[in-house]
Amino acid sequence: MRISVFGLGPVGLVTAVSFCKKGYPVVGIDTDSHRVEMIRSGKTPFFEPSLESNLREALDTGLLKTTSDSSVNTESDLSYITVGTPSSPDGGIDLTYIRAVASAIGKTLLGRKEYQLVLVKSTVTPGTARNVIKPILEKEARKLTSQDFGLCSNPEFLREGNAMYDAEFPDRIIIGSESQRDLDKVEAFYSEVYGANTPTVIKTTYENAELIKYANNSFLAMKVSYINMIANLCQKIKGGDVEHVAKGIGLDKRIAPLFLRAGLGWGGSCFPKDLKAISAYGISIGVRTTLVDATITVNDNQPLKAVKLVEKQIGDLKGKRIALLGLAFKPDTDDLREAVSIPIIVTLLERGAQVVGYDPAAMPNAKILLQDKIQFATSPVDCIRDADCCVIVTEWEEFKKISPTVFLETMRRPIVVDGRRIYDPSAFRQAGVIFSAIGLGES
Ligand code: UDX
Repeated sequence: MRISVFGLGPVGLVTAVSFCKKGYPVVGIDTDSHRVEMIRSGKTPFFEPSLESNLREALDTGLLKTTSDSSVNTESDLSYITVGTPSSPDGGIDLTYIRAVASAIGKTLLGRKEYQLVLVKSTVTPGTARNVIKPILEKEARKLTSQDFGLCSNPEFLREGNAMYDAEFPDRIIIGSESQRDLDKVEAFYSEVYGANTPTVIKTTYENAELIKYANNSFLAMKVSYINMIANLCQKIKGGDVEHVAKGIGLDKRIAPLFLRAGLGWGGSCFPKDLKAISAYGISIGVRTTLVDATITVNDNQPLKAVKLVEKQIGDLKGKRIALLGLAFKPDTDDLREAVSIPIIVTLLERGAQVVGYDPAAMPNAKILLQDKIQFATSPVDCIRDADCCVIVTEWEEFKKISPTVFLETMRRPIVVDGRRIYDPSAFRQAGVIFSAIGLGES
Protein backbone atom coordinates (compact mmCIF):
# COMPACT_ATOMS: atom_id res chain seq x y z
CA MET A 1 0.00 0.00 0.00
CA ARG A 2 1.26 3.46 -0.91
CA ILE A 3 -0.16 6.08 1.39
CA SER A 4 -0.80 9.83 1.12
CA VAL A 5 -1.47 11.93 4.20
CA PHE A 6 -3.09 15.33 3.58
CA GLY A 7 -2.31 17.77 6.41
CA LEU A 8 0.91 17.50 8.42
CA GLY A 9 -0.34 18.75 11.79
CA PRO A 10 -0.20 16.71 15.02
CA VAL A 11 -2.52 13.99 13.66
CA GLY A 12 -1.19 13.83 10.10
CA LEU A 13 2.51 13.83 10.89
CA VAL A 14 2.16 11.18 13.60
CA THR A 15 0.02 9.05 11.26
CA ALA A 16 2.56 9.40 8.43
CA VAL A 17 5.58 8.60 10.60
CA SER A 18 3.91 5.63 12.29
CA PHE A 19 3.05 4.05 8.91
CA CYS A 20 6.71 4.50 7.84
CA LYS A 21 7.72 2.78 11.08
CA LYS A 22 5.65 -0.20 9.90
CA GLY A 23 7.45 -0.16 6.53
CA TYR A 24 4.88 1.63 4.33
CA PRO A 25 5.95 4.34 1.87
CA VAL A 26 4.15 7.58 2.71
CA VAL A 27 3.93 10.97 1.08
CA GLY A 28 2.95 13.76 3.45
CA ILE A 29 1.20 16.68 1.72
CA ASP A 30 0.70 20.11 3.24
CA THR A 31 -0.05 23.47 1.62
CA ASP A 32 2.37 25.20 4.05
CA SER A 33 5.68 24.91 2.20
CA HIS A 34 7.65 26.16 5.21
CA ARG A 35 6.24 23.28 7.27
CA VAL A 36 7.01 20.82 4.47
CA GLU A 37 10.65 22.01 4.35
CA MET A 38 11.00 21.86 8.12
CA ILE A 39 9.71 18.28 8.26
CA ARG A 40 11.89 17.30 5.32
CA SER A 41 14.92 18.55 7.26
CA GLY A 42 13.98 16.25 10.16
CA LYS A 43 12.43 18.84 12.48
CA THR A 44 8.91 18.62 13.90
CA PRO A 45 6.89 21.86 13.91
CA PHE A 46 5.53 21.05 17.40
CA PHE A 47 6.71 19.09 20.43
CA GLU A 48 5.61 15.46 20.65
CA PRO A 49 7.71 12.92 22.57
CA SER A 50 9.66 10.51 20.31
CA LEU A 51 8.16 11.97 17.13
CA GLU A 52 11.34 13.72 15.98
CA SER A 53 13.58 10.63 16.28
CA ASN A 54 10.98 8.53 14.44
CA LEU A 55 10.63 11.24 11.80
CA ARG A 56 14.40 11.20 11.16
CA GLU A 57 14.31 7.43 10.80
CA ALA A 58 11.41 7.67 8.34
CA LEU A 59 13.38 10.19 6.27
CA ASP A 60 16.63 8.18 6.47
CA THR A 61 14.94 5.00 5.23
CA GLY A 62 13.46 7.00 2.34
CA LEU A 63 9.94 5.88 3.23
CA LEU A 64 8.70 9.38 4.02
CA LYS A 65 8.51 12.11 1.40
CA THR A 66 6.92 15.50 1.94
CA THR A 67 5.57 17.96 -0.58
CA SER A 68 3.08 20.77 -1.19
CA ASP A 69 2.14 19.29 -4.53
CA SER A 70 -1.07 17.30 -4.11
CA SER A 71 -0.83 15.78 -7.61
CA VAL A 72 1.54 13.14 -6.17
CA ASN A 73 -1.60 11.52 -4.74
CA THR A 74 -2.20 9.88 -8.13
CA GLU A 75 0.49 7.36 -7.12
CA SER A 76 -1.20 6.32 -3.85
CA ASP A 77 -3.60 3.52 -2.93
CA LEU A 78 -4.84 5.11 0.27
CA SER A 79 -5.20 8.78 1.07
CA TYR A 80 -5.84 10.11 4.55
CA ILE A 81 -7.51 13.43 5.28
CA THR A 82 -5.95 14.75 8.50
CA VAL A 83 -6.47 18.51 8.23
CA GLY A 84 -7.82 20.60 11.11
CA THR A 85 -11.48 21.46 11.67
CA PRO A 86 -11.28 24.63 13.79
CA SER A 87 -14.28 26.10 15.60
CA SER A 88 -16.43 28.57 13.73
CA PRO A 89 -18.03 31.48 15.62
CA ASP A 90 -21.27 29.52 16.31
CA GLY A 91 -19.28 26.66 17.91
CA GLY A 92 -19.69 24.41 14.86
CA ILE A 93 -16.74 23.30 12.76
CA ASP A 94 -15.13 25.22 9.94
CA LEU A 95 -14.85 22.91 6.94
CA THR A 96 -12.63 25.16 4.80
CA TYR A 97 -9.60 22.83 4.95
CA ILE A 98 -11.74 19.71 4.54
CA ARG A 99 -13.34 21.09 1.38
CA ALA A 100 -9.98 22.18 -0.04
CA VAL A 101 -8.40 18.75 0.55
CA ALA A 102 -11.43 16.87 -0.78
CA SER A 103 -11.23 18.97 -3.91
CA ALA A 104 -7.45 18.38 -4.27
CA ILE A 105 -7.87 14.61 -3.82
CA GLY A 106 -10.82 14.54 -6.22
CA LYS A 107 -8.72 16.16 -8.95
CA THR A 108 -6.05 13.48 -8.58
CA LEU A 109 -8.69 10.76 -9.03
CA LEU A 110 -9.69 12.12 -12.41
CA GLY A 111 -8.31 9.77 -15.07
CA ARG A 112 -6.91 7.34 -12.48
CA LYS A 113 -7.55 3.68 -13.33
CA GLU A 114 -6.88 1.95 -10.00
CA TYR A 115 -9.29 2.06 -7.07
CA GLN A 116 -8.24 4.46 -4.31
CA LEU A 117 -9.56 4.59 -0.77
CA VAL A 118 -9.99 7.97 0.90
CA LEU A 119 -10.05 7.86 4.71
CA VAL A 120 -11.25 10.76 6.84
CA LYS A 121 -9.31 11.02 10.11
CA SER A 122 -10.17 14.67 10.74
CA THR A 123 -12.85 15.19 13.41
CA VAL A 124 -16.08 16.07 11.60
CA THR A 125 -19.70 16.14 12.73
CA PRO A 126 -22.14 13.44 11.52
CA GLY A 127 -23.07 13.83 7.88
CA THR A 128 -19.83 15.51 6.77
CA ALA A 129 -18.41 12.51 4.87
CA ARG A 130 -21.72 11.80 3.13
CA ASN A 131 -22.96 15.33 2.48
CA VAL A 132 -19.77 17.37 2.07
CA ILE A 133 -16.72 15.23 1.25
CA LYS A 134 -18.36 12.64 -1.00
CA PRO A 135 -20.08 15.17 -3.33
CA ILE A 136 -16.84 17.18 -3.71
CA LEU A 137 -14.80 14.05 -4.49
CA GLU A 138 -17.39 12.83 -6.99
CA LYS A 139 -17.66 16.21 -8.69
CA GLU A 140 -13.90 16.70 -9.06
CA ALA A 141 -13.15 13.07 -9.97
CA ARG A 142 -16.19 12.77 -12.22
CA LYS A 143 -16.56 9.31 -10.72
CA LEU A 144 -18.76 7.58 -8.18
CA THR A 145 -17.80 6.51 -4.69
CA SER A 146 -17.88 2.76 -4.03
CA GLN A 147 -17.74 2.10 -7.77
CA ASP A 148 -14.54 3.92 -8.78
CA PHE A 149 -13.05 4.88 -5.43
CA GLY A 150 -13.86 4.39 -1.76
CA LEU A 151 -14.59 6.82 1.07
CA CYS A 152 -14.47 5.84 4.75
CA SER A 153 -14.69 7.68 8.05
CA ASN A 154 -11.83 6.58 10.26
CA PRO A 155 -11.61 8.85 13.33
CA GLU A 156 -8.39 9.05 15.34
CA PHE A 157 -8.00 9.00 19.11
CA LEU A 158 -4.40 10.23 19.47
CA ARG A 159 -3.55 11.90 22.77
CA GLU A 160 -1.02 14.71 22.59
CA GLY A 161 2.07 13.61 24.47
CA ASN A 162 1.30 9.92 23.76
CA ALA A 163 0.46 10.18 20.09
CA MET A 164 3.18 7.86 18.74
CA TYR A 165 2.16 5.14 21.20
CA ASP A 166 -1.54 5.58 20.43
CA ALA A 167 -0.86 5.39 16.68
CA GLU A 168 1.08 2.15 17.11
CA PHE A 169 -1.22 0.55 19.66
CA PRO A 170 -4.77 1.80 19.08
CA ASP A 171 -7.37 0.43 21.51
CA ARG A 172 -10.03 0.17 18.75
CA ILE A 173 -10.43 0.95 15.08
CA ILE A 174 -13.59 2.68 13.88
CA ILE A 175 -14.49 2.51 10.19
CA GLY A 176 -17.62 4.06 8.70
CA SER A 177 -18.81 3.60 5.14
CA GLU A 178 -21.84 2.83 3.03
CA SER A 179 -19.94 0.12 1.15
CA GLN A 180 -19.32 -3.26 2.77
CA ARG A 181 -16.47 -3.83 0.33
CA ASP A 182 -14.70 -0.64 1.49
CA LEU A 183 -15.27 -1.52 5.15
CA ASP A 184 -13.73 -4.96 4.57
CA LYS A 185 -10.81 -3.51 2.60
CA VAL A 186 -9.92 -1.06 5.36
CA GLU A 187 -10.29 -3.74 8.01
CA ALA A 188 -7.96 -6.04 6.04
CA PHE A 189 -5.43 -3.21 5.68
CA TYR A 190 -5.39 -2.56 9.43
CA SER A 191 -4.99 -6.27 10.24
CA GLU A 192 -1.94 -6.23 7.97
CA VAL A 193 -0.63 -3.07 9.74
CA TYR A 194 -1.17 -4.20 13.33
CA GLY A 195 -0.88 -7.98 12.97
CA ALA A 196 -1.31 -9.72 16.32
CA ASN A 197 -1.92 -6.34 17.98
CA THR A 198 -4.98 -5.55 15.88
CA PRO A 199 -7.66 -4.27 18.28
CA THR A 200 -11.43 -4.67 17.92
CA VAL A 201 -12.68 -3.16 14.68
CA ILE A 202 -16.10 -1.50 14.58
CA LYS A 203 -17.57 -1.30 11.10
CA THR A 204 -20.52 1.02 10.87
CA THR A 205 -22.10 3.91 8.95
CA TYR A 206 -20.33 7.20 8.21
CA GLU A 207 -22.48 9.02 10.72
CA ASN A 208 -22.02 6.54 13.57
CA ALA A 209 -18.25 6.59 13.05
CA GLU A 210 -18.24 10.41 13.07
CA LEU A 211 -20.39 10.52 16.19
CA ILE A 212 -18.23 7.97 18.06
CA LYS A 213 -15.37 10.49 18.10
CA TYR A 214 -17.53 13.25 19.61
CA ALA A 215 -19.30 10.92 22.05
CA ASN A 216 -15.90 9.64 23.16
CA ASN A 217 -14.33 13.02 23.82
CA SER A 218 -17.40 14.56 25.41
CA PHE A 219 -17.76 11.56 27.74
CA LEU A 220 -14.12 11.88 28.85
CA ALA A 221 -14.49 15.64 29.37
CA MET A 222 -17.71 15.01 31.31
CA LYS A 223 -15.85 12.57 33.58
CA VAL A 224 -13.22 15.22 34.33
CA SER A 225 -15.82 17.95 34.90
CA TYR A 226 -17.73 15.55 37.13
CA ILE A 227 -14.76 14.90 39.39
CA ASN A 228 -13.98 18.64 39.39
CA MET A 229 -17.54 19.29 40.60
CA ILE A 230 -16.99 16.72 43.37
CA ALA A 231 -13.65 18.43 44.14
CA ASN A 232 -15.52 21.70 44.67
CA LEU A 233 -17.76 19.93 47.19
CA CYS A 234 -14.74 18.39 48.96
CA GLN A 235 -13.12 21.79 49.33
CA LYS A 236 -16.07 22.96 51.46
CA ILE A 237 -16.06 19.87 53.69
CA LYS A 238 -13.80 19.64 56.76
CA GLY A 239 -11.21 16.94 56.00
CA GLY A 240 -12.63 16.54 52.47
CA ASP A 241 -10.25 15.13 49.89
CA VAL A 242 -11.23 14.46 46.26
CA GLU A 243 -8.27 12.09 45.86
CA HIS A 244 -9.91 9.70 48.33
CA VAL A 245 -13.30 10.09 46.69
CA ALA A 246 -11.88 9.51 43.17
CA LYS A 247 -10.08 6.40 44.35
CA GLY A 248 -13.24 5.16 46.04
CA ILE A 249 -15.46 5.56 42.99
CA GLY A 250 -12.77 4.55 40.48
CA LEU A 251 -12.60 1.08 42.01
CA ASP A 252 -16.15 0.48 40.83
CA LYS A 253 -15.47 -1.31 37.54
CA ARG A 254 -18.46 0.46 35.99
CA ILE A 255 -16.80 3.83 36.62
CA ALA A 256 -13.05 2.95 36.27
CA PRO A 257 -10.19 5.08 37.60
CA LEU A 258 -9.00 6.94 34.47
CA PHE A 259 -9.99 10.56 33.82
CA LEU A 260 -10.85 11.09 37.47
CA ARG A 261 -7.88 13.38 38.24
CA ALA A 262 -9.40 16.54 39.65
CA GLY A 263 -7.68 19.76 38.70
CA LEU A 264 -8.07 23.17 37.11
CA GLY A 265 -9.98 21.84 34.12
CA TRP A 266 -9.47 20.41 30.66
CA GLY A 267 -8.10 22.20 27.62
CA GLY A 268 -6.18 21.44 24.44
CA SER A 269 -6.98 21.25 20.77
CA CYS A 270 -9.75 18.64 21.02
CA PHE A 271 -12.03 18.67 24.06
CA PRO A 272 -13.05 22.36 23.96
CA LYS A 273 -13.57 22.39 20.20
CA ASP A 274 -15.34 19.02 20.09
CA LEU A 275 -17.76 19.75 22.92
CA LYS A 276 -18.74 23.07 21.37
CA ALA A 277 -19.17 21.33 18.01
CA ILE A 278 -21.39 18.51 19.28
CA SER A 279 -23.52 21.01 21.18
CA ALA A 280 -23.92 23.19 18.05
CA TYR A 281 -24.62 20.09 15.96
CA GLY A 282 -27.29 19.00 18.46
CA ILE A 283 -29.00 22.39 18.19
CA SER A 284 -28.88 22.17 14.39
CA ILE A 285 -30.90 18.92 14.48
CA GLY A 286 -33.18 19.99 17.34
CA VAL A 287 -31.53 18.11 20.22
CA ARG A 288 -30.19 19.88 23.33
CA THR A 289 -27.00 18.21 24.59
CA THR A 290 -27.64 19.38 28.15
CA LEU A 291 -24.94 17.25 29.79
CA VAL A 292 -22.33 18.47 27.32
CA ASP A 293 -23.35 22.07 28.02
CA ALA A 294 -23.06 21.52 31.80
CA THR A 295 -19.64 19.90 31.27
CA ILE A 296 -18.48 23.05 29.49
CA THR A 297 -19.90 25.33 32.21
CA VAL A 298 -18.12 23.43 35.01
CA ASN A 299 -14.90 23.66 33.02
CA ASP A 300 -15.22 27.39 32.31
CA ASN A 301 -15.43 28.07 36.05
CA GLN A 302 -12.69 25.69 37.17
CA PRO A 303 -9.50 27.72 36.42
CA LEU A 304 -10.80 30.57 38.57
CA LYS A 305 -10.85 28.22 41.58
CA ALA A 306 -7.05 28.58 41.58
CA VAL A 307 -7.32 32.37 41.80
CA LYS A 308 -9.86 32.03 44.65
CA LEU A 309 -7.44 29.80 46.57
CA VAL A 310 -4.62 32.29 46.02
CA GLU A 311 -6.81 35.16 47.26
CA LYS A 312 -7.88 33.13 50.26
CA GLN A 313 -4.23 32.83 51.30
CA ILE A 314 -2.84 36.25 50.44
CA GLY A 315 -5.87 38.55 50.17
CA ASP A 316 -5.54 41.49 47.81
CA LEU A 317 -3.45 40.51 44.78
CA LYS A 318 -2.26 44.02 43.93
CA GLY A 319 1.54 44.02 43.56
CA LYS A 320 1.86 40.38 44.66
CA ARG A 321 4.24 38.11 42.77
CA ILE A 322 2.48 34.92 41.71
CA ALA A 323 4.51 32.04 40.25
CA LEU A 324 2.80 29.65 37.84
CA LEU A 325 4.46 26.26 37.41
CA GLY A 326 3.19 24.91 34.09
CA LEU A 327 1.60 26.75 31.17
CA ALA A 328 0.83 23.98 28.65
CA PHE A 329 -2.69 22.49 28.69
CA LYS A 330 -1.23 19.21 29.95
CA PRO A 331 2.24 17.69 30.50
CA ASP A 332 4.44 16.41 27.65
CA THR A 333 3.22 18.97 25.16
CA ASP A 334 4.08 22.56 24.25
CA ASP A 335 0.45 23.20 23.31
CA LEU A 336 -1.21 26.26 24.84
CA ARG A 337 -4.50 25.95 22.98
CA GLU A 338 -7.33 26.45 25.48
CA ALA A 339 -4.83 25.95 28.31
CA VAL A 340 -6.25 26.87 31.73
CA SER A 341 -3.08 28.89 32.38
CA ILE A 342 -4.47 31.62 30.09
CA PRO A 343 -7.69 32.52 32.02
CA ILE A 344 -5.69 32.23 35.27
CA ILE A 345 -3.07 34.70 33.99
CA VAL A 346 -5.71 37.09 32.64
CA THR A 347 -7.55 37.14 36.00
CA LEU A 348 -4.39 37.52 38.08
CA LEU A 349 -3.27 40.45 35.90
CA GLU A 350 -6.73 42.07 36.08
CA ARG A 351 -6.45 41.95 39.85
CA GLY A 352 -3.08 43.70 39.81
CA ALA A 353 -0.73 40.74 40.42
CA GLN A 354 2.67 40.35 38.86
CA VAL A 355 2.88 36.94 37.15
CA VAL A 356 5.95 34.83 36.50
CA GLY A 357 5.65 31.54 34.63
CA TYR A 358 7.71 28.50 33.77
CA ASP A 359 6.99 25.47 31.59
CA PRO A 360 9.45 22.76 30.49
CA ALA A 361 8.20 22.78 26.87
CA ALA A 362 5.74 25.59 26.22
CA MET A 363 8.00 28.62 26.86
CA PRO A 364 8.59 29.50 23.18
CA ASN A 365 4.85 29.36 22.43
CA ALA A 366 4.03 31.23 25.65
CA LYS A 367 6.46 34.03 24.77
CA ILE A 368 4.78 34.48 21.39
CA LEU A 369 1.28 34.40 22.91
CA LEU A 370 1.82 36.41 26.08
CA GLN A 371 4.73 38.65 25.04
CA ASP A 372 5.62 40.93 27.96
CA LYS A 373 2.38 40.44 29.90
CA ILE A 374 4.13 38.06 32.30
CA GLN A 375 7.74 37.35 33.24
CA PHE A 376 9.31 34.12 32.03
CA ALA A 377 11.54 32.15 34.39
CA THR A 378 14.42 29.90 33.35
CA SER A 379 13.70 27.04 35.78
CA PRO A 380 11.11 26.06 38.41
CA VAL A 381 13.34 27.46 41.18
CA ASP A 382 13.85 30.70 39.26
CA CYS A 383 10.06 30.88 38.87
CA ILE A 384 9.22 30.60 42.57
CA ARG A 385 12.08 32.85 43.75
CA ASP A 386 10.70 35.65 45.96
CA ALA A 387 7.13 34.76 44.98
CA ASP A 388 4.23 35.42 47.36
CA CYS A 389 2.39 32.36 46.11
CA CYS A 390 2.99 29.48 43.71
CA VAL A 391 0.24 27.76 41.70
CA ILE A 392 0.77 24.33 40.14
CA VAL A 393 -1.03 24.68 36.81
CA THR A 394 0.32 21.67 34.84
CA GLU A 395 1.43 18.39 36.40
CA TRP A 396 4.86 18.03 34.75
CA GLU A 397 7.02 15.22 36.23
CA GLU A 398 9.84 17.62 37.09
CA PHE A 399 7.54 19.69 39.34
CA LYS A 400 6.56 16.58 41.31
CA LYS A 401 10.16 16.22 42.45
CA ILE A 402 10.38 19.68 44.08
CA SER A 403 10.58 19.22 47.85
CA PRO A 404 8.80 21.41 50.42
CA THR A 405 12.25 22.69 51.53
CA VAL A 406 12.84 24.24 48.10
CA PHE A 407 9.58 26.22 48.39
CA LEU A 408 10.43 27.20 51.98
CA GLU A 409 13.92 28.41 51.09
CA THR A 410 13.13 30.13 47.79
CA MET A 411 9.78 31.90 48.11
CA ARG A 412 9.08 35.19 49.86
CA ARG A 413 6.18 33.43 51.56
CA PRO A 414 5.89 29.62 51.27
CA ILE A 415 2.32 29.55 49.98
CA VAL A 416 1.53 26.78 47.51
CA VAL A 417 -1.76 26.22 45.67
CA ASP A 418 -1.71 22.76 44.14
CA GLY A 419 -4.05 22.98 41.15
CA ARG A 420 -3.23 19.46 39.94
CA ARG A 421 -2.87 17.49 43.16
CA ILE A 422 0.77 16.53 42.66
CA TYR A 423 1.96 16.98 46.26
CA ASP A 424 1.27 15.19 49.54
CA PRO A 425 -0.68 17.76 51.60
CA SER A 426 0.43 16.46 54.99
CA ALA A 427 4.14 16.30 54.04
CA PHE A 428 4.00 19.89 52.77
CA ARG A 429 2.06 21.17 55.76
CA GLN A 430 4.30 19.39 58.27
CA ALA A 431 7.33 20.92 56.59
CA GLY A 432 5.81 24.38 57.14
CA VAL A 433 4.43 25.20 53.69
CA ILE A 434 1.07 27.01 53.69
CA PHE A 435 -0.63 24.52 51.44
CA SER A 436 -4.03 24.44 49.76
CA ALA A 437 -5.25 22.43 46.81
CA ILE A 438 -8.16 21.75 44.49
CA GLY A 439 -10.54 19.32 46.16
CA LEU A 440 -8.92 19.58 49.57
CA GLY A 441 -11.03 20.74 52.51
CA GLU A 442 -9.79 22.46 55.67
CA SER A 443 -7.73 20.04 57.79
C1 UDX B 1 -7.93 13.98 23.75
C2 UDX B 1 -8.41 12.52 23.69
O1 UDX B 1 -7.94 11.82 24.85
C3 UDX B 1 -7.92 11.86 22.41
O2 UDX B 1 -8.40 10.53 22.34
C4 UDX B 1 -8.45 12.70 21.26
O3 UDX B 1 -8.27 12.16 20.04
C5 UDX B 1 -7.89 14.12 21.36
O4 UDX B 1 -8.34 14.68 22.59
P1 UDX B 1 -5.69 15.24 24.42
O5 UDX B 1 -6.39 16.52 24.09
O6 UDX B 1 -4.30 15.06 23.93
O7 UDX B 1 -6.51 13.98 23.87
O8 UDX B 1 -5.65 15.16 26.00
P2 UDX B 1 -6.15 14.19 27.17
O9 UDX B 1 -5.02 13.41 27.70
O10 UDX B 1 -7.36 13.43 26.79
O11 UDX B 1 -6.55 15.29 28.26
C6 UDX B 1 -7.50 16.30 27.94
C7 UDX B 1 -7.59 17.31 29.05
O12 UDX B 1 -8.19 16.73 30.20
C8 UDX B 1 -6.25 17.87 29.51
O13 UDX B 1 -6.39 19.26 29.72
C9 UDX B 1 -5.98 17.16 30.81
O14 UDX B 1 -5.19 17.91 31.68
C10 UDX B 1 -7.39 16.98 31.35
N1 UDX B 1 -7.54 15.85 32.27
C11 UDX B 1 -7.45 14.58 31.81
C12 UDX B 1 -7.83 16.08 33.61
O15 UDX B 1 -7.93 17.24 34.04
N2 UDX B 1 -8.02 15.01 34.44
C13 UDX B 1 -7.94 13.73 34.01
O16 UDX B 1 -8.14 12.82 34.83
C14 UDX B 1 -7.62 13.51 32.65
